[in-house]
Amino acid sequence: MAKPSAIRHFLDLDEIDARTLRRIIDAAHTMKAAGKRVPVKLRPKGIADDVLVLIFEKPSTRTRVSFDIAMRQLGGQTIMLNQNDLQLGRGESISDTARVLSRYADAVMLRANSHDTLLELAKNSTVPVINGLTDKSHPCQIMADILTFEESIGPIKGRKVAWVGDGNNVAASWMHAAAKFGFELRVACPDELRPKEDIVDWVRREKANVTIMKDAAKAVSGVDCIVTDTWVSMGDTDEARRKKLLKPYMVDEALMAKAAKGAIFMHCLPAYRGNEVTESVLEGPQSVVFDEAENRLHAQKAILAWCLGAV
Ligand code: CP
Ligand code: NVA
Repeated sequence: MAKPSAIRHFLDLDEIDARTLRRIIDAAHTMKAAGKRVPVKLRPKGIADDVLVLIFEKPSTRTRVSFDIAMRQLGGQTIMLNQNDLQLGRGESISDTARVLSRYADAVMLRANSHDTLLELAKNSTVPVINGLTDKSHPCQIMADILTFEESIGPIKGRKVAWVGDGNNVAASWMHAAAKFGFELRVACPDELRPKEDIVDWVRREKANVTIMKDAAKAVSGVDCIVTDTWVSMGDTDEARRKKLLKPYMVDEALMAKAAKGAIFMHCLPAYRGNEVTESVLEGPQSVVFDEAENRLHAQKAILAWCLGAV
């Protein structure tokens, strides 16, 4: 059993040092170039006997399938569980679940309603735990997004990115990434849907180049990349209020035209055309959203390889 301090959990980008994150992204570029045949040096030792357990408390298409296939391409195996498949759904504690799963599995990925559930799982687990999205953050998504930015534009360090819309979980991981990868991030959102204060405080303490503003047009001026996300995340109940507040934040061709020449458009998907983005931008020449979706697979192979000691 690994010592707790030696366990490579992938919980949030703010907890992992910048050099390690850079190494994982470099490995992701290599993984992508190699296709299905993962280079031997990036295959964790003993991977053929390793099993990744995937637990979902909420729906998923990309995270579910890309993690499953990533583990198989590395040479390992997976077990996929929804919350109600486990005794968790009948009230067994997260800590007991973590202690039991640690005796069987070699890594656990969790998509959780509450970030606290993820932290409790990691605290009690003796195998690596990976954040597959919580109400607070979505770090695996942003690793794929960095990979996508870099293959479309080049190294992200020193570049400019604008987040337009809800200051949600995906925005939070972009804010962490701005500090860790050294790029400028402008977050345009209504006052009512600003990123959570603890993340704002963290970027301030890190002296990251992150600005939060209300004006979407100002935020996107001259940027290399515009990113947005759904206006109604899983678990949000105030759909009508959000749609009203976020109406001025739809990414359309006029907004894209204010970005730098050759700028790209990103969205983690699923997308809601006519809300956060127009059909013409999502399907237009600047959109890299399906490369971004594909890159979940390559980035996650690199994340798994790091968690299991090969990166
Ligand atoms: N982007 C993303 O995490 O998609 P899923 O909800 O389909 O996993
Ligand atoms: N912010 C969205 C992302 C979905 C991948 C949500 O949490 O539902």
